[in-house]
Amino acid sequence: MSELLTIGEVSRRSGVAASALRFYEERDLINSERAGSGHRRYPRPVLRRIAFIVFAQRVGLTLDEIGEELAKLPPDRAPTRRDWSRLSSKWTGRIDERIEELERLKAGLTECIGCGCLSLDRCRMANPDDRAAARGPGPRYWIGDAP
Ligand code: FES
Repeated sequence: MSELLTIGEVSRRSGVAASALRFYEERDLINSERAGSGHRRYPRPVLRRIAFIVFAQRVGLTLDEIGEELAKLPPDRAPTRRDWSRLSSKWTGRIDERIEELERLKAGLTECIGCGCLSLDRCRMANPDDRAAARGPGPRYWIGDAP
């Protein structure tokens, strides 16, 4: 497919601001061609790469990690379903970790998270005298330690 899109069209279709698209391009996460006018033109498959970037960021991957993943895609053709499958298999574990974190966060809104604040009535039971601090910094029960 050779259809080329302007940066405005890509922005509208992807929901990503043109400034962010230019930033992604500076980071070599996406590529454009230059029209005779010098304006950027993107091949339509870039939309899938942008969706990948946006969701990978939500999962918690850094731009460097995303770049490493995208570099595994074939440079000379639009990635196939199989190419994407290979990529997503690597971050399934990351998604599972994120789901667990979010579930702990959700529960942590009403439960003691072992953060050292000792401000809830439940902290006296779950974290007496800030016992959780012995395990390290941060909200210990929220990041995975059992109360
Ligand atoms: S919520 Fe902070 S120590 Fe319990």
